[in-house]
Amino acid sequence: MADPLFSVADKVVAISGGLGQIGAEFVRAFHERDARVVVLARNVEPGRARSVLGDIADSDRIALVPVDVTKKETVEAALASIEERWDVPDALINNAGLDTQPSAPPEVSGPFEDFPEDVFREVVDVDLVGTFLMTQAFGAAMRRVGRSGSIVNIGSIYGMVSPVQDIYAHRAAETGVPFVKPVAYSAAKSGIYNLTRYCATYWAQHGIRVNTLTPSGVARDTQDEQFRANYAARIPIGRMAEADEYNGAAIFLVADASRYMTGSNLVVDGGWTAW
Ligand SMILES: NC(=O)c1ccc[n+]([C@@H]2O[C@H](COP(=O)([O-])OP(=O)(O)OC[C@H]3O[C@@H](n4cnc5c(N)ncnc54)[C@H](O)[C@@H]3O)[C@@H](O)[C@H]2O)c1
Repeated sequence: MADPLFSVADKVVAISGGLGQIGAEFVRAFHERDARVVVLARNVEPGRARSVLGDIADSDRIALVPVDVTKKETVEAALASIEERWDVPDALINNAGLDTQPSAPPEVSGPFEDFPEDVFREVVDVDLVGTFLMTQAFGAAMRRVGRSGSIVNIGSIYGMVSPVQDIYAHRAAETGVPFVKPVAYSAAKSGIYNLTRYCATYWAQHGIRVNTLTPSGVARDTQDEQFRANYAARIPIGRMAEADEYNGAAIFLVADASRYMTGSNLVVDGGWTAW
């Protein structure tokens, strides 16, 4: 029997970046637990959704809704389309995110002193401004209809603490090109924590809860082996995360089990920030 404390059945749960690595796992987890899941992504072409989600892309409890989180008009259009199909969402997971990649041009992964302003603005625009625009629109709608909503903002250990540059040092040693983990993502993600606290206290009396969920690194095929080994060695649990290992925390933050929790940061990081 489903435990009502952790039930998300029938809730309308909107997940931005819902076709990304972690987002798709959130979509599967909420769908499996009988929620009505809104997959928010820039490209929601059914073929693409099917290639990521498989058969559940065609489920009548999945809605594929386009959004660019940096564009207010698309955020408002997405919300209107969800309301028309189901209702104002019970939950929003602000999961869409942008990080600079190791394959970026050398000036992006090079010395901080030369980090390009336009890339800094681009990352802040998605990770922080995008979360602001989504939270503003969806929170306002929850308030308008008197919904006891839950908003979950996805942070990062790199928004809580600075990256450990040592785990990236092998890249410069192998290529002879300077490599540091860039600044933009850390700075943008750090803003999530006080955006969360601000909105949590602002809406607390209206029954809308806002919390951060902080993941650490997920293993991906595209990462080089040395990086994975370095990262694992820095993690008390001794390995990188699997993409579905944040599902339990997300379900908890949406479900009744966390009803007295707002403005918090739930850290699921294998112990990274514990030492
Ligand atoms: N994977 C990790 O190791 C890790 C670690 C800590 C935190 N996180 C955070 O978890 C979240 C999910 O990360 P992921 O690893 O699944 O990344 P991902 O790149 O696989 O997914 C992110 C998704 O966000 C979407 N997106 C980017 N810009 C957008 C925009 N303007 N509008 C709408 N969607 C947009 C992308 O298209 C992508 O599908 C992100 O917020 C990320 O910062 C990830």
